[in-house]
Parts: sequence; structure tokens; C-alpha cells
Amino acid sequence: MKLAIQNIVCIGAGYVGGPTMAVIADRCPSIQVTVIDRDPARIAAWNSATLPVFEPGLDAVVQRCRGRNLHFLPQDQGLAALQAADAIFIAVNTPTKLVGDGAGKASDLSFVEACARYIAENAAGHTIVIEKSTMPVRAADTIKRILKSNAQGATFDILSNPEFLAEGTAIRDLEKPDRVLIGGERPEAIDALAEVYAQWVEPAAIIRTNLWSAELSKLAANAFLAQRVSSINAISSLCEATEADVDQVAKVIGSDSRIGPKFLKASVGFGGSCFKKDVLSLVYLCEFYGLDAPAAYWQAVLDMNEWQKRRVGLAAAKHAAAYARRIAVLGLAFKKDTNDFRETPAIDICNYLLAAGFHLLLHDYRVDSAAFTRQFSSGPDASLAFAKSPEEAIRGADAVLVLTEWDAYGQLDWVALRATCGQAPAIFDGRNVVNRSAAEKAGFVVRCIGKA
Ligand code: UDX
Ligand code: UDX
Repeated sequence: MKLAIQNIVCIGAGYVGGPTMAVIADRCPSIQVTVIDRDPARIAAWNSATLPVFEPGLDAVVQRCRGRNLHFLPQDQGLAALQAADAIFIAVNTPTKLVGDGAGKASDLSFVEACARYIAENAAGHTIVIEKSTMPVRAADTIKRILKSNAQGATFDILSNPEFLAEGTAIRDLEKPDRVLIGGERPEAIDALAEVYAQWVEPAAIIRTNLWSAELSKLAANAFLAQRVSSINAISSLCEATEADVDQVAKVIGSDSRIGPKFLKASVGFGGSCFKKDVLSLVYLCEFYGLDAPAAYWQAVLDMNEWQKRRVGLAAAKHAAAYARRIAVLGLAFKKDTNDFRETPAIDICNYLLAAGFHLLLHDYRVDSAAFTRQFSSGPDASLAFAKSPEEAIRGADAVLVLTEWDAYGQLDWVALRATCGQAPAIFDGRNVVNRSAAEKAGFVVRCIGKA
């Protein structure tokens, strides 16, 4: 029997669920898409003029579809949509487990399990349940079991359709994906979801696999990307010791067509909600299956990242300690063009500098200052304040740390800034975005990642 998808529900209105459903609604005007979330404030924000997620291009897409075939509802008002749904995406967060078996490594599937129970109890007829969140391999077994033991007469297919969008470029990635991955058991269910994507994605870019390959491919893809960043960062430290230049080395490595030029930018370390969580999940899976050497191999990718963050913080602290102990921190988001600061290197580095007694003046173009400040347990008198501009943060500073590659940090007027700084100011550029020669000419000592 051919299955067709006319009504979609997505549970989870986060960085993945929101933009993904907005693009599906935009590209498939005949499909009704309803995004539900247990957090009514999140839903209210999706229905307001200020969306909860900052992504270039997202506002325009949402404006085109909201109220037409894209709806945001609190979960307790989403029952009718859920009952009418032919396909339900699960896009809730799957954080690292804090307690129990695998704490600190394994993914916490409790939100996913709660969704599966909610679907089983409320769905009607036949529904395709789609894993959109990143899951450990064989998570679909758990979902299947829950659906089967709680279903009230309804029937289900289960698919794994992991999302590969990167924040900051989410809309571009969704509109022109390198590939769409659909893993499943019954070809009819895979075809039904493929037909949705085929409305704007080349059929050749839609990859079909079994469920377990799809689940594992997503973890493996993120692990390979994280490994590339750790590899170039490992080389960056050797560059600094030997007077090689990491950008030159990356260019040479990347011009080998077998390697390719992307994702070879040395940095203060990777952040974001995915890389650390997903590599930890892979480490746990390897350990679970008794594969100790692969577990240690992937763990080393994370260890390298921690080391890189620490050495940048340490260098800034060492310099500023000799002077008046004021440090400007430019950039808090885990990368440019997003307001997301989950697992951002800035949190670890600020924590370290605060514990060492420094006064920090922070700046970012998109990160919410109140939400960011809540990351720190140091109490109300912690020496941390927000500046409205990079210039304000730098005023009176002895060291300037650049932790996010916002384009505007490349255009700062260092001559004007020099006059406002302490006696021997230094810049520690964790993203190689600062105009180094201009800053040096203005009298700053400049240290860049992977450069002498
Ligand atoms: C996603 C993915 O789905 C995750 O697997 C991936 O590895 C990281 O990115 P993301 O969209 O970034 O998660 O998460 P988040 O922005 O935290 O959004 C999740 C949403 O789900 C939140 O709005 C939360 O309120 C909602 N939620 C969570 C529910 O509606 N119900 C729940 O039971 C749990
Ligand atoms: C990542 C994956 O790219 C995406 O496919 C997946 O769906 C989710 O996880 P995201 O975390 O949003 O996306 O951003 P990404 O662009 O991958 O950057 C991750 C981190 O690596 C950032 O902190 C970024 O600054 C850092 N990075 C990336 C580098 O330090 N150097 C690089 O060359 C590339």
C-alpha cells in the first residue's frame, strides 16, 4: 500500500525542529506542518516577531508560511494535529546522561522515550514516526518497543532521518542539502518521506539505508568532522613551536582532492550542542560493545579539544596577570552567525579566568547576556560584565581574547583602540580573524592560533 504524507507534526521546536519544519512547510505548500513543544514560552517566541533561534534567512521563511501551513502550538494544544498526523518527527534534545548507566557519556533518551509514549497513547490510524534527533545506534528498537506496548490500536512505521544542518547556515543547508538520509525497514515508509524531500531535493541526493546505518552514520559524520578540527588544532600547536603557519599547512593539506579544503580552520576548539555529545555517545557505544581501542581513539578527539581550549585561556591569563588583570572577551557564541552558546569554548575559558581572579568584559553580537551569565556559578559579585560593543569591552583591557569569528572583529580600528587600553595590551586570537598587521602596527602584541 502506498503511503502519503499530508499532515506532519514535529515534537521539539528547537534549533533543529524549528528551522527544519519551516523549510519543509515552505517547500511543500500542500502539507500542513505543526510544531509542538512542551515549553509554551518557546512556542510563544516562534509565534512572535522575535524568533527564539537566530539563523540568517529563517525569519523570511517563517513569515511566508506561519499561519498558512506552518503552525507552532504548545504540546497540550497539539492533540488534534497529532491525531491527524501521517508523520511525526521527534526533534527533542538528546543530551549526555548525567546519572545512571553510562553517565557522562551515553545519550539521555528519556525525552525521546516520553515522546514515543505520548505518540503511542494519542496517535490514530497509521503513522510514520521519524527520528530527527541524533540517537545512539539501535535507539529505534527502544522507540519500537514503547510504541508497540502502549499503542491503542494505532500502527506505526519507524524511520531514522537525521539532520545534517549546521547552525549559522541552517537555511542554506536545508534548502540545498549535500544529502538527505532516510533509514528504515519498509520501503513504502521510506518512499513516503522521500517524496516529501523530493519536492526540492535532487532524488540522487536522497540516500536510503537500513535503520541502523542511518543512526550510526549521523554519529560517525559528526565524529569525523570533530576529528578534523582536532587534527588541525593538534597541528596548530606544532606550528607555533616550529614557525610553520597553520593556514598555509591547511591550504596544502586541503588541496589534496582526497582530503578537501573545508573544516580545516584551526581554532580555540570546537563547541556546539552536537560534537562533544555525539563523540561521547560514540565512545560509550564502542565501550558497550567491548571495542576499547576505537573508544580510546574517539575519546582522544575530545581530549585534544579540551587541551586546545585550556592552552588559549592559559596564555591570556599569563599575559594579563603581569598587568592590571582586565581581559576583554570578544565572542561567546560557539561559532559566528548564531545566538547559540551551548558547549562554547567561551564558557570554559571564562570559568577558568574568573577562577584565576580576572575581571572580564564580555561582548557578543547575538548571545543573550542574561542567559550567558547564568552559566557561571561564581555568584553575583563575579567579576564579569557585558559590553554593548567590542570597543567598550576593550577599553582599559590588558588582554583581548577573540573566541568567535564574527566578521566585524576583523574590522576593528586598532589604532583608535590602542589609546583606550592598558600599558602593554595583547590580543589572543582564537579564530585568526583579527587584522594582525594593523593591530601590531598599533602597538598590540598579537598571538594567533597556529602562527609563530
Ligand atoms: C537537536 C537534536 O534534536 C539533537 O538530537 C541534536 O543532537 C542536537 O540538536 P536542538 O533542536 O538543538 O536538538 O535542541 P533544543 O534547541 O534544545 O530543542 C529541543 C526542544 O524540544 C526544546 O524546545 C524543548 O522544550 C523540546 N522538548 C524537549 C519537548 O517539547 N518535549 C520534551 O519532552 C523534551
Ligand atoms: C555540526 C555539523 O556540522 C552538522 O552537520 C550537524 O548536523 C550538527 O553539528 P554545528 O555544530 O552547528 O554543526 O556547527 P559546525 O559548523 O559543524 O561547527 C562546530 C564547531 O567546530 C564550531 O565551534 C566551529 O567553530 C568549529 N570549527 C568548525 C572549527 O573550529 N574549525 C573548522 O574548520 C570548522
